[in-house]
Amino acid sequence: MDFVSKYKGQIDAALEKFFTDKIEGKSGIEKEAISKLREFTMRGGKRIRPLFMILGYWLNSDVDDRIVKASISLELMQSYLLIHDDIIDQSEIRRGGPSFHRMFGYEGRINEGISIVCADLSDAYSHEALLDVDFPPDRLNSAMKLMSEIVEFTGIGQLMDITLSLGDEMTVDDVTAIHKYKTAQYTVNGPMKMGAILSGYRDPNRIDRFGLPLGIAFQIQDDILGMFGDEKELGKSVVSDFEEGKKTHLILYTYQMASRAEIDFIRERLGRKGISREDFERVRNIIEKCGALDKTRELLKKYYDEAISSISDLSPSPSHRDQLKYMADLMVRRTK
Ligand code: IPE
Ligand code: IPE
Ligand code: MG
Ligand code: MG
Repeated sequence: MDFVSKYKGQIDAALEKFFTDKIEGKSGIEKEAISKLREFTMRGGKRIRPLFMILGYWLNSDVDDRIVKASISLELMQSYLLIHDDIIDQSEIRRGGPSFHRMFGYEGRINEGISIVCADLSDAYSHEALLDVDFPPDRLNSAMKLMSEIVEFTGIGQLMDITLSLGDEMTVDDVTAIHKYKTAQYTVNGPMKMGAILSGYRDPNRIDRFGLPLGIAFQIQDDILGMFGDEKELGKSVVSDFEEGKKTHLILYTYQMASRAEIDFIRERLGRKGISREDFERVRNIIEKCGALDKTRELLKKYYDEAISSISDLSPSPSHRDQLKYMADLMVRRTK
């Protein structure tokens, strides 16, 4: 059985239990906040980060209830990062429903204020969920230290993401660096290493050669889906990256490869709200026709191949290697 089919249900059940316990006996705004966090967290989500944590653990130990329980800390982290991100990016849709700050019926700024604080709660819950599990204290300590580092990396990546797109100087390498900080650490590499640490895996830093390139490939795929994906399946908007003015590999390669007139067409529209369907279709055609989409896919493949080539260093076991490959494939072939 593949890793997702085996553990996604268990992760969801552990999350449900966490929220049920948390909500018990609560009332008023506290109850409303936790209920909304529960609704948002349970609405969808591929559970990639818990799955990678369990995978990292499994490299050195049989999977048990403790690691499943600990892994939900990363989904509670994902919730608070997404809540903040959707406020920053002014995204209205997430996981096929309203983004968190659109789930309350208060006046505009109040909704955002409440959402920021609910994200703080989810941050606290994330720590609680990890620390609540009975692992040897030295391992738990190291995993917690790594979790702090992951959040630090993500924060720096988000800061880079917000500010670098503002100028005209951004390079392809800048985009890759943002992907590494903003996504790779907290999505693949950090979760896997946390799991590995909790199982006493020897030299968890070996995982970097798998987790970092795979995490970068994951975000490149996210950028491709964020422009060319199916909105219904993806559960988020396919124009919002463009309207936000995000300079992805797709855009930067287009600036290198398209004609002057095509580049002007894109530059005039990138970062503006309310692009028409026809204009957005033309933007996509330009990106595809000039070769930027293919070039972005090649870059994704380069990082994917790098990750795959490191698998043999991570474990001698054929079943471990199969599941590492399975999860890697899922990250880059996904359509949502
Ligand atoms: C979204 O992450 C944020 C990125 C880093 C691209 P996911 O694509 O893992 O989102 P969910 O948790 O499955 O909704
Ligand atoms: C989100 O990045 C990464 C986080 C740290 C949460 P994006 O802004 O690129 O992701 P989406 O497209 O909103 O999911
Ligand atoms: Mg966003
Ligand atoms: Mg963002």
